[in-house]
Amino acid sequence: MKKIAILSQKGGAGKTTLAVHLAVAAELGGKSTAIIDLDPQASASDWGDSRDDETPVVVSGQAARLSNMLEIAEDAGADLIIIDTAPHSENASLQAARAADYILVPCRPAILDLRAIGYTVDVVNLAKKPACVVLNAVPPQGSIAHDAAKAITQYDIEIAPIKLVQRVAYQHALTAGLTAQEYEPSGKAAFEIQQLYKWTAQQVHL
Ligand SMILES: Nc1ncnc2c1ncn2[C@@H]1O[C@H](COP(=O)(O)OP(=O)(O)O)[C@@H](O)[C@H]1O
Ligand SMILES: [Mg+2]
Repeated sequence: MKKIAILSQKGGAGKTTLAVHLAVAAELGGKSTAIIDLDPQASASDWGDSRDDETPVVVSGQAARLSNMLEIAEDAGADLIIIDTAPHSENASLQAARAADYILVPCRPAILDLRAIGYTVDVVNLAKKPACVVLNAVPPQGSIAHDAAKAITQYDIEIAPIKLVQRVAYQHALTAGLTAQEYEPSGKAAFEIQQLYKWTAQQVHL
């Protein structure tokens, strides 16, 4: 069983968006997948409740119970666990990071998000786990992603080769209890998520 933690000390960076989209991509790829939602705001759990589909399973819980929840998932035969986390929660984020095989750090290419990335990188370094930044909600045109990538080079963290563009499909899908792949299977969001999933699966040898 592989474990991926989604971390960002900044709210609104795209943690939950990434968690649910990667989880559905994994399920579509035949991997039994669950999301562990450590955010007290429970957005991923709410999304899970609003779905007709039973999968991916979404379990809400506290970081103190994480190892227990992971054990239950492993016993149940899960292939992949995606841990969604809360912003401004260094302790819980650190526990998620320590439990994970790999960490994804979504980051918007905006100045406040870029400034906040140092806090998340500190957590990643404390956990000593492989990680990378996923640029998210990148404008479809212009050089902002390039500038953001340059700004991130000052931190000790890699950048994923696939970025997610700002697309209404991500928002519409979530509102409907779906993901972009289900909402608009041949859309651009579905395609870039599939690319990101493929790349992420390689990083954890899934
Ligand atoms: N690539 C994207 N394109 C459009 N909207 C996005 C994108 N990523 C995230 N959002 C929207 O931004 C908001 C915050 O995203 P969310 O995943 O909830 O962030 P977090 O979990 O880090 O707080 C949500 O309304 C979500 O739909
Ligand atoms: Mg969230």
